[in-house]
Amino acid sequence: MSKKRIFSGIQPSGNIHLGNYLGAIKNWVNLQNDYDSIFCIVDLHAITVPQDPQKLSQKTLEVAKLYLASGINPKKSILFVQSQVQEHTELMWLLNTVTNTGDLNKMTQFKHKTHKEIEKENIKAGLLNYPILMAADILLYDTDVVPVGEDQLQHIELTRKLARKFNQKFGDTFVLPTGFTRNKSKRIMGLDNPTKKMSKSASSEYNWIGILDDSETIKKKIMKAITDSTPEIEYSDKKPALKNLINIFSLIADKKPREIIEKYQNQGYKEFKEDLAESLVNYLKPIQENYSKLNDEDVKKILTLGANQAREIAENKLVEVKKKMGLGI
Ligand code: TYM
Repeated sequence: MSKKRIFSGIQPSGNIHLGNYLGAIKNWVNLQNDYDSIFCIVDLHAITVPQDPQKLSQKTLEVAKLYLASGINPKKSILFVQSQVQEHTELMWLLNTVTNTGDLNKMTQFKHKTHKEIEKENIKAGLLNYPILMAADILLYDTDVVPVGEDQLQHIELTRKLARKFNQKFGDTFVLPTGFTRNKSKRIMGLDNPTKKMSKSASSEYNWIGILDDSETIKKKIMKAITDSTPEIEYSDKKPALKNLINIFSLIADKKPREIIEKYQNQGYKEFKEDLAESLVNYLKPIQENYSKLNDEDVKKILTLGANQAREIAENKLVEVKKKMGLGI
């Protein structure tokens, strides 16, 4: 029996942080052994908000290096840059024709990214249409499972809806994908605000721990992380800031939250945070070492090869889709 397929991606915008790592990359590294795996750097999604062109291409390479440094193995998985496979944008156009704008307007991420816009007519169409491009990414490869953080599940639901609509209208074409999250890591919260997820676009760097942050920065950020006003170390929804830190500790030390509470119950936040910071530094060190050994030219070759492999699959799918829609002569 052939393996099921996974597809996932990260935008090369901002700094890749612990939320991206624990919510997505870490799971991919394990899943690539059991699934036919495709991982993408979604630069076309990144340009839905303004980007500096020179920095964007540097960031794209940086994200690819982080995938590799974290253990994505190009011998097991296809690794490529979205804009190098033009079938993504072409399928997106075709899917545009089965998408209701009403559904796009309802997307939480879109509402979140545009809530500050007073002049609603200045909102870019790309931002509204973003989930259609994501659907194209997923559907081009007959993806079965999409491993992501919780914030992306709504987009995957929309992808299923578009696939279902297309299949009903034009005949069975697309596989209906399912989202995959892991409970403890699906939503890592900001260190400066436990009511919002850790985010690349946060205004303060004290919101996130970057995968490439040095040890001093990590220590500073953890010591500054907000906790709750009462001194007891407990794992409870009443103390969301502490719960988030315990979750992070538990994920990186591979311990149960209960074990962590038992250890620090009689000590204060200070010891807890110092140990968490040290564990984080040690946890990220091997990834950072791998990262520093990677050579840009070698990584570019891996990406070119990956794009060729991805294109082969994507081309066939697009031919099928266009034929079903009656495009061409
Ligand atoms: P992006 O670049 O915002 O995030 C990349 C991945 O990291 C997860 N993530 C988190 N997980 C846990 N806690 C957090 N605080 C946290 N922040 C981010 C995200 O859920 C995601 O899995 N639209 C996508 C990129 C994309 C994509 C795709 C994903 C484009 N096409 C096709 C899967 C399949 C995005 O903006 O992810």
